[in-house]
Amino acid sequence: MVLLEQVQQQYETLPYPPRDPDRELDLLRQPSLVEIPRVLEVLWNGRRTLNAEFQILDAGCGTGDNTIFMAEQLRGTGARITALDFSSASLEIARRRLEVRGLLDQVTFVQSPLEASPVLGIGPFDFIVTTGVLHHLDSPELGLAALRDVLKPDGGIGVMVYARYGREPVYQMQALLRHLAPRTMPETDRLRVLRHTLASLPKEHHALRGLMDTPIFRREIENSDAGAYDLLLHTQDRCYTVAEVYDWVEGAAMTMRGFTIPRRYEPATYLPGLQGGSARERHAVAELLHGAMIRHEFYAMRADASIPSMIASDEASAIPAWTSWGFGDKLAGALKTPGTQLRFTFGEEREVPVGGDAITRSLLGGIDGHRDVATIFERALALRDRPSARQVQRRWLEAADPLRAAAALAMHLPA
Ligand SMILES: C[S@@+](CC[C@H](N)C(=O)[O-])C[C@H]1O[C@@H](n2cnc3c(N)ncnc32)[C@H](O)[C@@H]1O
Repeated sequence: MVLLEQVQQQYETLPYPPRDPDRELDLLRQPSLVEIPRVLEVLWNGRRTLNAEFQILDAGCGTGDNTIFMAEQLRGTGARITALDFSSASLEIARRRLEVRGLLDQVTFVQSPLEASPVLGIGPFDFIVTTGVLHHLDSPELGLAALRDVLKPDGGIGVMVYARYGREPVYQMQALLRHLAPRTMPETDRLRVLRHTLASLPKEHHALRGLMDTPIFRREIENSDAGAYDLLLHTQDRCYTVAEVYDWVEGAAMTMRGFTIPRRYEPATYLPGLQGGSARERHAVAELLHGAMIRHEFYAMRADASIPSMIASDEASAIPAWTSWGFGDKLAGALKTPGTQLRFTFGEEREVPVGGDAITRSLLGGIDGHRDVATIFERALALRDRPSARQVQRRWLEAADPLRAAAALAMHLPA
């Protein structure tokens, strides 16, 4: 069987990630790569309007995590999503999940290999997301080029591919299983051999320890056959260093626009004071300093796209929004607790301490994704102590700039 068919068959038998539409309302998964305020800021510096013209492609949508989160955020805007996958079983799960949430009318489904995107009559798209897919293609180069060709001239793409160093135990175990459970075996037998091998290896086995000590790998192995198979028995799986990501993106006539967690890719995060060098060099050094990255999530645009300038944090007409869905509600509770400092945690390497005085609290509490900076400042100027405009602006920059650097706060300009 040729590889493309073998990969397709895997995802027909074992749709990924495993999701139960009947439990859809238990939890809204929120992949950070598709946080819409962040996408608007990273790709277009906040100068893009969400309306019926705005078109998104989820290429290799699987069972629908990205599509569902984007559709929730885009409710009522008219923006549309095309969910494409070559696995009919995965598309059906995605369809049922969207139905449960009442989001079906925002989404069009296409069953096809993504390499055929340019001849399907779909797009062109403002934003394409493709997570956990391109590293499984026979030619990731052709896959990326096919997606680039259905982007609008200034469209952008969000990609997740595997990273090399943190996945070394995965590749060691895959090498062993290629001998013990070759891909000519039926899937159920391969899974049986996998489970038996993992249970039989000595606990100090280097790769086994690496897998079991990494929570995300452990969960994949322990929670489902689809996860274990995807991790350890995939017939087509490659990974990238930062340098390889840059080469791949630039080889497709595209430019990098940033990683989802910018700080993770800065050497100074690991060795304070280490600065300088090109973005590519800094990001490659940060990967080696981190030492255990298992994936790269990044945004890129066509190399010839014109990119508008960045919005200053104190631009009066700009509208700040939390990138994290529902964060404003959580913050409202935290702002009521007195203290000299507020600490925000947005996951790994995204902790941001800011001052906890009344002006900062008023400013942060004013962020709701609708109010502009001028209105947020007016609320703070009306505080009982009557702070000066200069004080308000200073407090705002002290809080907003680090929150933007951590990709926790995004700014956009209304149309
Ligand atoms: C690991 S899953 C990721 C699913 C989803 N993007 C996510 O992140 O949850 C990979 C998905 O890509 C799909 N896929 C793999 N190669 C493909 C191709 N060449 N064309 C279309 N879909 C593909 C598979 O069917 C599967 O649903």
